[in-house]
Amino acid sequence: MSAKTILITGASGGIGAALARCHARAGVTLLLWGRDEERLNQTATQCRALGADCIPCLFDIRDLDDMVARLSAQDDRTPIDLAIFNAGLGGSVSKDVIAETPQRSRATAEVNFVSPVMGANLMAGAMARRGHGQIVLVGSIAESYPLPMAPTYAATKAGLAMFAEALGIRMAKHKVRVTLVSPGFVDTAMSRGVPEAKPFLMTADAAAAIITRRIARGDRRIVVPWQFAVIRAATGLLPRALVRWVLGRA
Ligand SMILES: NC(=O)c1ccc[n+]([C@@H]2O[C@H](COP(=O)([O-])OP(=O)(O)OC[C@H]3O[C@@H](n4cnc5c(N)ncnc54)[C@H](OP(=O)(O)O)[C@@H]3O)[C@@H](O)[C@H]2O)c1
Repeated sequence: MSAKTILITGASGGIGAALARCHARAGVTLLLWGRDEERLNQTATQCRALGADCIPCLFDIRDLDDMVARLSAQDDRTPIDLAIFNAGLGGSVSKDVIAETPQRSRATAEVNFVSPVMGANLMAGAMARRGHGQIVLVGSIAESYPLPMAPTYAATKAGLAMFAEALGIRMAKHKVRVTLVSPGFVDTAMSRGVPEAKPFLMTADAAAAIITRRIARGDRRIVVPWQFAVIRAATGLLPRALVRWVLGRA
């Protein structure tokens, strides 16, 4: 069954906005979440032009109780077939500072881990009761590496990857599919804030086209671009001490 009602968090920019455009067509209702009114409305206008109904919703997903209340009410009104938890906060810390601030690490953890995990658990229960649905969690290839330039970011994405795998096993008997997306470098506001080299950089539209196709196929694990799947498999064979040594000198 193709998804009729689709939630996309972080739809006001980058990968989320591109995913919204890829899913937009007649007969589809897009629930678009973000904070920046102008950019979120721009995504909605583009998706309406492609035939979709759009319900933009402006709020901060770090307000966790509000997020749960909105998601629950929205799902009661219009049952969600596909929930894409994509919103994220980048985490590269400059070499000039010794460590991340507690405030920044809290924000990163709330946006990248706590909010999507709470939202996905809520959706898992609701979809299981209906006997169908798909939950997509957007992680990062950073989930596989102890990145000294982004310790909290890497940790939130590693946690999200473990959560996606565990939830996927748990939901299998309820016919709820769980998909983890792990992008490499995608040209968005987030990656533009990263000073390091960005091998195999791809556009948000190109990444979203691949991700959308593979979500529809029901894949559990999506790495874009594919080169990062190869790199990850290869570095997985290396001694961890060597990986740490290389990253420490990067
Ligand atoms: N770009 C990459 O190279 C790359 C690589 C690996 C993984 N990813 C992952 O891909 C996902 C999308 O990233 P992107 O590159 O598209 O980033 P982006 O262009 O910076 O967009 C991030 C989105 O998340 C939303 N967001 C952030 N904090 C929020 C909050 N507190 N409340 C509500 N919405 C919030 C933003 O909304 P507003 O702008 O309206 O605040 C925006 O729509 C993230 O999970 C990221 O970790 C990206």
